[in-house]
Amino acid sequence: MTTLPKEEAARAILARNDRGGYTVPTDRLYPFQWNWDSAFVAMGFALFDVDRAYRELERLIEGQWDDGMMPHIVFHAPSDTYFPGPDVWGTRHRIPTSGITQPPVFGMALRHVHEAAVASGLDGATERTKALFQAALRSHRWWLSARDPEGLGLVSILHPWESGSDNSPAWDEALARVPTTTTTTIRRKDTGHVDASMRPRDEDYQRFIHLVDTYRDCGWDPKRQWAAAPFKIADVQMTAILARSTADLMHLAESLGAEDEKSELSRMHDRLLEGLTRRWRPELSRFVNLDLISGQDIDTPTQAAFIPLAALTLDDAQRSAVTAEIERWLDGMVVGVPSAPAFSPAFEPKRYWRGPVWAVVNWLIADGLRLNGADDLARRIERGTVQAIEKAGFCEYFDPTTGEGLGGDTFSWTAAAYMVLGRRT
Ligand code: GLC
Repeated sequence: MTTLPKEEAARAILARNDRGGYTVPTDRLYPFQWNWDSAFVAMGFALFDVDRAYRELERLIEGQWDDGMMPHIVFHAPSDTYFPGPDVWGTRHRIPTSGITQPPVFGMALRHVHEAAVASGLDGATERTKALFQAALRSHRWWLSARDPEGLGLVSILHPWESGSDNSPAWDEALARVPTTTTTTIRRKDTGHVDASMRPRDEDYQRFIHLVDTYRDCGWDPKRQWAAAPFKIADVQMTAILARSTADLMHLAESLGAEDEKSELSRMHDRLLEGLTRRWRPELSRFVNLDLISGQDIDTPTQAAFIPLAALTLDDAQRSAVTAEIERWLDGMVVGVPSAPAFSPAFEPKRYWRGPVWAVVNWLIADGLRLNGADDLARRIERGTVQAIEKAGFCEYFDPTTGEGLGGDTFSWTAAAYMVLGRRT
């Protein structure tokens, strides 16, 4: 039984974007399997087809590297509508993949799918969960050794695309230090699908590819990349998602009776929470990133500032400061939470990650608000997201000042977010 007005349309999008057990974010613009997209999509499938939810995660780990790294793209089947393809990445995995990663929502998704499987009595669920749990654990170990070798309790991104917020103003200063020279010929495809005014600028695209060239020249070895990286940011959004997924894996370890793994995860969790806690800036009412090359805080306001709520229990003063700050960002917006607030000089309501609203970001922020007892604000955000989708369609993102749907349409994670958030409102 469904009650959501667009439930059938949401399911139809997942069916249409299915390429055989995995879901592309949207046809043409993103024609492969993307890491964190698939984790959100699996949680959407878990509402009505738990077997298919498992498949989404199982197909994603086909791309996992021997060292535990979960690539941001798995190129299961060729397509010429996307750049940079496998030839540019030059990685050496059985199935071609990119060489960088993306936010590890996987652990959160696995717990979600497992619980749905238990509730529905799906056959063979525990075995499937166990295999995926081991993959997740290997990936969390990779995160801490490859991306926090100095033991800060914060994991770093070496490429803006790893953050999931590719074109965020938070990266501007650090990215400006990256040379625009490339050894790869750039053949952008994105601007053939979507208006160039919504996409990253050419100069930034050259820097993105310069980073790919640099890490490919390191043979994708984590130690060499860490040493060579001209872009290295300890990211609170990434760290918070990793910490939250670690907590979800601890729950799973408990129900699977995996004691040693649970202790190991619990040590990881303590380390990440300590790191995150140190990134709180009371004078800004938010959490901030740390640029490891300059040694400076990055206090450009972006949605990443609020993702730590999904992992941390705030004290009373922090909670009221954060909720007041989120309300300030929502003020005057048709739909929030904007990826950059309207009062920021960097705000561009239509350009990728510089103002628009993403349904999955709202999902994480609302989860964090609920965990911290701010249910009313969580509901306001969830309701706003669902209404925006009902009005504008299952778009990639939304203009916060008008509610207009932008970027690619028929987007898988927007469909998943609609079903999950819609059930809460
Ligand atoms: C863009 C987004 C990223 C997403 C991908 C596929 O690159 O910035 O977060 O995973 O599209 O939807």
